[in-house]
Amino acid sequence: MTTRETWGTRAGFILAAAGSAIGLGNIWRFPGEAYEFGGGAFLLPYLFAILTAGIPLLLLEYTIGRKYQSGPPSAFRALYRPAEGIGWWQNGIAFFLATFYAVIIAWALCYVFFAPGMAWGDDAGAFFGGEFLQAGEPLDFFEYRPIMMAALAAVWALVLLIMAGGVRKGVELANRICIPLLVVLFGAIVVRALTLDGAADGLDAFFTPQWDKIGDYEIWLAAYGQVFFSLSIGMGTMIAYSSYLRKRSELSTTAVTVGFANSSFELLAGIGVFAVLGFMSSESGAPIDELVGTGGGVAFVTFPTILSQMPGGAFIGVLFFATLVVAGISSLISMVIVPFSSFEDRFGWTRKKSVLVLGVPMAAFSLLIYPTSNGSSMVDAVDFAVSGYGLVLGGLATIVLAFATGKIKSLAAEANRTSMLKLGTVWYACLALTSVVLVYTLFRSVQGQIADLSDPAVANELIYINWGVGGAMILFGVVMTVVLYRRPLPERVEEEASAPV
Ligand code: PHE
Repeated sequence: MTTRETWGTRAGFILAAAGSAIGLGNIWRFPGEAYEFGGGAFLLPYLFAILTAGIPLLLLEYTIGRKYQSGPPSAFRALYRPAEGIGWWQNGIAFFLATFYAVIIAWALCYVFFAPGMAWGDDAGAFFGGEFLQAGEPLDFFEYRPIMMAALAAVWALVLLIMAGGVRKGVELANRICIPLLVVLFGAIVVRALTLDGAADGLDAFFTPQWDKIGDYEIWLAAYGQVFFSLSIGMGTMIAYSSYLRKRSELSTTAVTVGFANSSFELLAGIGVFAVLGFMSSESGAPIDELVGTGGGVAFVTFPTILSQMPGGAFIGVLFFATLVVAGISSLISMVIVPFSSFEDRFGWTRKKSVLVLGVPMAAFSLLIYPTSNGSSMVDAVDFAVSGYGLVLGGLATIVLAFATGKIKSLAAEANRTSMLKLGTVWYACLALTSVVLVYTLFRSVQGQIADLSDPAVANELIYINWGVGGAMILFGVVMTVVLYRRPLPERVEEEASAPV
């Protein structure tokens, strides 16, 4: 019999949960999404999604994790035996997400070293796609890029070291270092950005609402997608993290704090990035909308271009890419914890065993597939399977399960035992509404992909890779459910539930 480790302090859990939420999604993904989907008008569906879907689901995952004190498969099994597979399927999502997320952190790490000498010269776009990625055909596997490999190996070594330290001396400690560091680094960048000439024009472009877009279903989908990714919900991450809470810990204000911290960071990132774009537009005369690419474009192409023109650009560049690395590492840990907690709780594995049997192969897979000339197309294909479907479907499954098993009320009661804000009708209504929106989201996104198949401009092989990854994850979930159906959960010493503190 084993006893499980717990977070050292309440702040430790909040920092870790915030560290998970605040990541590349805030800095790398949000500004581009917001801009593309209506600027100021995007903020409305975004806030709506945070309040009605994000925070309620965060609370649901916290409650499930704390109640069953196990990683996702065992927690879902405790909720309803045949549902164990949902947790294993989430392991699949975590596996694919972590293995490519690490790659983007590795790119940023390379750029920390490129920044002082502005290695990208005067064509950051050609440098990124050409010299750095040496982007080739989507199916050119195994043409390795040594610098990227080295950076990726360093990222994985650090993450596995942190994981080996366990909950308190690993994850909690890492977040205690990462979060303050992030605030300082990022604060410096935003202040610098706001003092550049033209910053106000950039902010204007960012916040000007394009109200005509508000009726588009796409902006709503984008908002929900962003909220799921950004708050790290739908993948069991928060079930795993909250499984290390003590039974008497508070949940509701914690969820609100994490949600608020994450959104603040997201808005700040938007403000910082657009202030800088405003500067560039005033320097070059190009309109702002021509400067914005999405995703990798802003961070690895537009930003470096601007850095070259900015007084003190090299220094800001180091800060910016270091911010991406720090924010990314604290999120990557929270992805890796999903399989770690799952196998440890289901099979009684030790942490050392998880590092060797799960961590090392994950790192190896990541190193084998991505630091190659087709790495960036693979990132896109897998990103869609994970962020486009995985998280949303995972969130939906969690809600449906809580209602269908009739356990939603007892979960609310369990949360209310220690929570300041009481969960009740409003919470149920939000979750129900979210599930309707999610079903619609999924439907539209499958429709979109089917339409893409007949579009000659879209590479079909990437769609097949996307479906293959999606299918492999589901298959894993089903196989694990069947194989483990009769195998009971390992026994362990239960902590007594006591009055809140
Ligand atoms: N929230 C993280 C980010 O914004 C990504 C993430 C998604 C982390 C899902 C864990 C689980 O970058």
